[in-house]
Amino acid sequence: MDLLKKRILEDGKAIGENIIKVDEFLNHQVDPVLMDEIGKEFKRLFKDSNITKILTIEASGIAIGAFVALHFGVPLVFAKKTKSLNIDEDVYSTSVYSFTKKTDYDVKVSRKYLSDEDNILIVDDFLANGRAALGLVDIVCQAGAKVKGIGIVIEKGFQEGGRILREKGYRVESLAVIDHMGNGEIEFKS
Ligand code: G4P
Ligand code: NA
Ligand code: NA
Repeated sequence: MDLLKKRILEDGKAIGENIIKVDEFLNHQVDPVLMDEIGKEFKRLFKDSNITKILTIEASGIAIGAFVALHFGVPLVFAKKTKSLNIDEDVYSTSVYSFTKKTDYDVKVSRKYLSDEDNILIVDDFLANGRAALGLVDIVCQAGAKVKGIGIVIEKGFQEGGRILREKGYRVESLAVIDHMGNGEIEFKS
């Protein structure tokens, strides 16, 4: 998505070789015009998938998810992060390892909001090692719903998440894939 790549080059900041800050338009301040275009693009990519719900994870997935949901005309559900494993019977829950925080956290979704009739599009702002996305996939499977695809705004192509999810057979669509970073430069996969 050219508009997004242009914005990443203009306002994104590479921190070393692994982290990109996009607080100007995605992770802290949010540009609604760009979010609307992102929503439109995911709708174009998944228009034939009969999507019934968008699923993301708090916090930074929510802004994107809301715009995507609006374009599909379906609800957004966001998984909540919790401190302790939830043994509540009213929720689907799973454990996710965070490489950045070097610890596990638990994620839950109320059973009320996912059912075996749902066709789910998972969306998130970043795809790095893929643990958050795999956690969401697990929750969809627990509900007996179908994962129709995974829509990512920025995939870090040099980390393993994209490969793992695609090898498992999921359709992953990333609007910008970063090939590598360094010396303050950001290079995309074409
Ligand atoms: P993984 O799910 O792909 O395995 O990701 P990882 O544990 O490496 O990343 C954890 C958090 O860091 C996620 O947000 C993810 O979106 C974010 N993240 C990963 N790489 C980058 C990056 O290069 N730049 C920025 N800005 N964020 C990155 P989170 O902890 O779930 O937090 P939030 O959604 O509440 O903000
Ligand atoms: Na996120
Ligand atoms: Na984040």
